[in-house]
Amino acid sequence: KKVVLAYSGGLDTSIILKWLQTTYGCEVVTFTADLGQGEELGPARDKALLLGIKPENIFMDDLRETFVKDYVFPMFRANAMYEGLYLLGTSIARPLIAKRQIEIAEAVGADAVSHGATGKGNDQVRFELSYYALKPDVTVIAPWREWDLSSRTKLIEFAEQHQIPIAKNKRGEAPFSVDANLLHASSEGMVLEDPADEVPDYVYSRTDGPESAPDKPTYITIDFKEGDAVGIDGKALSPATLLTKLNELGKINGIGRLDLVENRFVGMKSRGMYETPGGTILYFAHRAIESITLDRGAAHLKDELMPKYAELIYNGFWFSPEREMLQALIDKSQQFVTGSVRLKLYKGNAIVVGRESPYSLYDKELVTFEEGAVAYDHRDAAGFIKLNALRLRTLAQRKKKLGL
Ligand code: ARG
Ligand code: SIN
Repeated sequence: KKVVLAYSGGLDTSIILKWLQTTYGCEVVTFTADLGQGEELGPARDKALLLGIKPENIFMDDLRETFVKDYVFPMFRANAMYEGLYLLGTSIARPLIAKRQIEIAEAVGADAVSHGATGKGNDQVRFELSYYALKPDVTVIAPWREWDLSSRTKLIEFAEQHQIPIAKNKRGEAPFSVDANLLHASSEGMVLEDPADEVPDYVYSRTDGPESAPDKPTYITIDFKEGDAVGIDGKALSPATLLTKLNELGKINGIGRLDLVENRFVGMKSRGMYETPGGTILYFAHRAIESITLDRGAAHLKDELMPKYAELIYNGFWFSPEREMLQALIDKSQQFVTGSVRLKLYKGNAIVVGRESPYSLYDKELVTFEEGAVAYDHRDAAGFIKLNALRLRTLAQRKKKLGL
């Protein structure tokens, strides 16, 4: 039996690794991805070796470009937000990790995969729906749902028994749980569990506080091509480089903090804190370039479908026909979403101050209050309003007749 484990190198997945070896008696293959979480992969390799993983069974990948180009950017074309606010930073990373795990499983002849998500959250669903969509006969091992290491104390005991190195601050109760990648850092649990209490300052890792941001605004221009950001201030950048740069700009200007109570797919409400500095800037910029290049009908339709699309990603259905159908519709809408957006970054805000495009539908001649274009005759508006008012007048007449 061989199992491919999504291995971060942290305490929890190290314990899972040992547990798979000792309890399940299987040969463990580790997969560690660089998704821009801001940690070197080297220490994860060293730890895997220390825990007895053969060098040929250690897989490491820098997936930053793929992550942004094939997952984050397609999602941003939709302006996707779950429950109106969450930019889906964790949700969008899971299908990519799962896909690489399955590819590795096929390559090394493993029949099982494993992950470190708990039995109470969304991530278990996202990992496993992706596994099954890509390898229908796969065996999934979810240690958090199976083992009896139910408390932190038991976990630490297990780690000590098996010579798993424990970082000093992990010995006691970890103060909160973090998931990070190039798009965001998310923190949940422990000190954050009471939604009435403000998030303590030390929980923030990706953004400076808006209070300490510079008093002078930063102006930037983001260039778009067919719905995707391709450059900053006229300089072409690869997807991951561009998001990295936006993250730096967002960080110093205190942009992208979100304190949210959300509805998990498995049923309960949870409180989390998200930091999405670059993604937040990108979100406003993309809406701005769409505002001049998208037709109203196209824009409103994609806005109506967006909550559905966001929910599919949140719930783990990235590899589903309905997500792919919506993606095709969204991608089609982006054909002329090309141009640049100018923004002012200032103390927690990403404020759009200008937009332009060779394909702009904005017609100054048409909209001006001055003497304007021939395509629009003021007198047409009278009939337009009268016909639209017909129902409203009929209703008002009935109301009057009934004395209501
Ligand atoms: N609630 C977020 C989601 O479902 C983040 C979950 C992972 N975050 C964490 N800190 N463990 O997408
Ligand atoms: C977890 O349960 O592992 C993290 C939280 C979530 O997936 O919702």
